[in-house]
Amino acid sequence: MCAFQLRYDSYRAAVDDHLGGLFADAKDKPYRRLQEAMRYSLLAGGKRVRPVMTLAFCDMLGGQWREALPFACALELVHTYSLIHDDLPCMDDDDLRRGRPTCHKVYGETMAVLAGDALQGEAFGLIAAAPAMTAQQRIDAVAVLSAACGGGGMVAGQVLDVDHLAQGETDLRLLHRLKTGAMLQAAAELGCVAAGADDGLRQRARDYGCHIGLAFQVRDDVLDVVADQGELGKPIGSDRAEGKRTFVDLLGLEACQALVAEETAKAKAALADLPDSGFLLNLADHLAERRK
Ligand code: IPE
Ligand code: IPE
Ligand code: MG
Ligand code: MG
Ligand code: MG
Repeated sequence: MCAFQLRYDSYRAAVDDHLGGLFADAKDKPYRRLQEAMRYSLLAGGKRVRPVMTLAFCDMLGGQWREALPFACALELVHTYSLIHDDLPCMDDDDLRRGRPTCHKVYGETMAVLAGDALQGEAFGLIAAAPAMTAQQRIDAVAVLSAACGGGGMVAGQVLDVDHLAQGETDLRLLHRLKTGAMLQAAAELGCVAAGADDGLRQRARDYGCHIGLAFQVRDDVLDVVADQGELGKPIGSDRAEGKRTFVDLLGLEACQALVAEETAKAKAALADLPDSGFLLNLADHLAERRK
């Protein structure tokens, strides 16, 4: 196995281990089904791209990457909540996620809404309790994550998406930047916060995450057309079924992949000349060609 994959796997294993220890203390409580629903979606085996990115930024900048696990996992909690809600009948109405029936298919719509709500709240609790971080680092992390997932970030993007408010390329770029780019940008920046990096580095990390975000969502739109459902772990053709306008409609498959390549190159340029950036440069290339 190549060095990139080994390093990715070691970050991912640490994330999975940390997540696996969460929300397992209500087995004798009357609301234990809530924790079951949270863990069902959280531990279903996502790629963990966002937390891996946080850990890799911290590592690159000389921080102790394991100390950044609470920040990284907070992002994954919010991301998982966003997926649970994204799949609901009132949103994308999808039945398969991470290779399993969606949360609402197993636990019902009401519990799926509530599991998402709880994951979002718990994310900020993880940041507040991050043992190795200073009070200022925790405050900075809360600010970064709330901006990314809130009403001017991911949720705003979901509004543009479900209300079909984006038609042309400029609108779609904004939609993708908000619904997906904001969280990837936060992933990069949280790693900087954990490492105690300065504003200049935080800006470069944001630039990297923002370009990765657009590339990642355009690739997601492409995979919704060309992927193998078994490998992807979520339904193919969901965007068309929901009448979504995507980059594939706008540009066609080939030009989409060219846009992914262009944004990947811009992401890599944001880290140019930084020492030890090899893993994050490889990660950008890896995501551009991903099949799931
Ligand atoms: C899916 O995200 C939602 C998008 C922003 C496209 P991922 O592709 O990272 O999904 P998981 O976490 O690996 O399941
Ligand atoms: C969702 O975008 C982005 C989120 C904020 C969850 P999609 O609706 O395209 O994600 P998938 O394809 O269902 O994973
Ligand atoms: Mg959606
Ligand atoms: Mg969806
Ligand atoms: Mg999609």
